[in-house]
Amino acid sequence: MRVILHTGKGGVGKTTLSAATALGAAEHGHRVFLLSTDPAHSLGDAFGRPIGARPTALAPGLVAQEVSVLDEIERSWSEIQAWLASLLRGGADELMAEELLVVPGLEELVALRAVREVEALGEFDVCIVDCAPTGATLRMLRFPDALQVFMERFFDLERRLARLARPFAEGVGLRGWIPGDDVFAAFERLYRDVDDVRQILLDTDRTTARLVTNAARVVVDETRRSFAYLCLYGVATDAVIVNRLLPARAQSGWFAHWAEREREELAAIEAAFPIPTLRAQLATSERIGLDALRALAREVYGETDPAAILHRGAPLRWRRVGASPLLEIDLPGTSKEDIEVTLHGEDLHLRVRDALRRVALPASVIGRQLAGATLRRGTLEVRFAP
Ligand SMILES: Nc1ncnc2c1ncn2[C@@H]1O[C@H](COP(=O)(O)OP(=O)(O)O)[C@@H](O)[C@H]1O
Ligand SMILES: [Mg+2]
Repeated sequence: MRVILHTGKGGVGKTTLSAATALGAAEHGHRVFLLSTDPAHSLGDAFGRPIGARPTALAPGLVAQEVSVLDEIERSWSEIQAWLASLLRGGADELMAEELLVVPGLEELVALRAVREVEALGEFDVCIVDCAPTGATLRMLRFPDALQVFMERFFDLERRLARLARPFAEGVGLRGWIPGDDVFAAFERLYRDVDDVRQILLDTDRTTARLVTNAARVVVDETRRSFAYLCLYGVATDAVIVNRLLPARAQSGWFAHWAEREREELAAIEAAFPIPTLRAQLATSERIGLDALRALAREVYGETDPAAILHRGAPLRWRRVGASPLLEIDLPGTSKEDIEVTLHGEDLHLRVRDALRRVALPASVIGRQLAGATLRRGTLEVRFAP
């Protein structure tokens, strides 16, 4: 099943473009499931009718659903929450335990389990996701790495300790302090779910992100950073959609200067992103309802199937230069000072500002020394010794 994620800054038009892309794909004959994982759902607003947490048919070949993020969290965390609540017994209440469990990035990932569930139905060819604004999406990408570290190192140890210590703890009345098997099982389930979602996100043969942006400096800067982070975490991006461009008729008078700025930003976008740039104009009114969304899909995609993979290019690429292996990653908008590359056993650690990605080295590279790293026109090259 093809998966397309739409992300971008708040208000740029993610929901509108997800809706248009889904409708356009349905009209190309695909069976499309449109999911919103943004807790501030607005798919219903875009279609001009209520949608909610149950799958709702909107047009031939198009079903949509707004995932209830709180219910999803409740579904995976209830045992863990109960345990935390018991830890806090006497002092705090359950509400506090709930607050403690608001882990950044987890919500979006848990909501994305819905993609797997759509796939399991076996009735859809394409799943289009209207994601939360960029910040949440990027935190989500970091979360599996963090959870993996937690599970591998800390949790395994904890579990062994708990087995040994439980009889003792029960004897001295400290039973609630040691997580029971149900809590461990809940952690393991969560870990598996998160890993499943991660597999889908990293499968560049079927999953791509589309960055929705506006032709304004601050928005474009954020889009460039998002693109770099998506590459860093191994998610393929196959298009940038520039929304709300001033139509020719509106480029004179009061808006002449805005139009000039837009042209500059568009040129900067074309130069910064090694992927297709799609465009949508600012309409005379909000883009609401099937007709408006259908017209928007035509404007953005023309005759192209909106569900097609619009650009193929792995975010992380291994190559060989002579006898030296080389890793390439697109990191536009990043400067040398932002990047740190270090080797840790069989992993390469790539740090870009505050984001860390652990890349497992291919067998042929394990044991080789780092020979250097260079940033060349927005692409980082990490070289290993021959
Ligand atoms: N190209 C456009 N022309 C006119 N109105 C638009 C356009 N794109 C989005 N809108 C309107 O802007 C508002 C915000 O868009 P929305 O898709 O909800 O943004 P986001 O999901 O990124 O927060 C909505 O009212 C939508 O109808
Ligand atoms: Mg939205």
